Amino acid sequence: MDELNTSVYELLGGEAGLRSLVDRFYEIMRTSPETKDLRAMHAHNLKRSREKLFMFLSGWSGGPPLYAEKFGHPRLRQKHLPFSIGVKERDQWLWCMDKALDEGSFDPRVVEYLKARFSEVADFLRNRIEL
Ligand code: HEM
Repeated sequence: MDELNTSVYELLGGEAGLRSLVDRFYEIMRTSPETKDLRAMHAHNLKRSREKLFMFLSGWSGGPPLYAEKFGHPRLRQKHLPFSIGVKERDQWLWCMDKALDEGSFDPRVVEYLKARFSEVADFLRNRIEL
């Protein structure tokens, strides 16, 4: 992506593209039996989660740093500590995100790039020891 000197935010189609990705992600999570454990960890109303993930990803992908402006440093690992996250939860999150990326009409290069980056972040958020 570097050679283009274009942000992932722009490649996703800016605010509208990112919103559609996040909306799709939560809709997949809400309606898929495959990810019912992940859904159960979230509040009944997903509006707040949707807004926060959108704001976070905006800055993370090189767009306006909306989350940091409103809430300060994301401290993602710390924010996820109240939830027990192991391989199952990580994989359910990634399943939803991979599907949302595949279903959007995004540039395949940005899809491939984001799948790799999301796997890293999701793995980093694991906090349950599984021997
Ligand atoms: C690894 C699997 C993951 C699980 C099980 C998980 C679960 C959750 C849950 C249960 C919440 C609270 C939402 C609510 O109160 O309804 C949350 C918040 C959040 N998650 Fe995740 N998450 C995961 C991965 C990720 C990843 C990979 C990202 C970023 C790329 C992310 C970004 C966020 C953000 C920004 C919030 C809002 C934090 C805040 O309260 O300010 N999560 N997550």
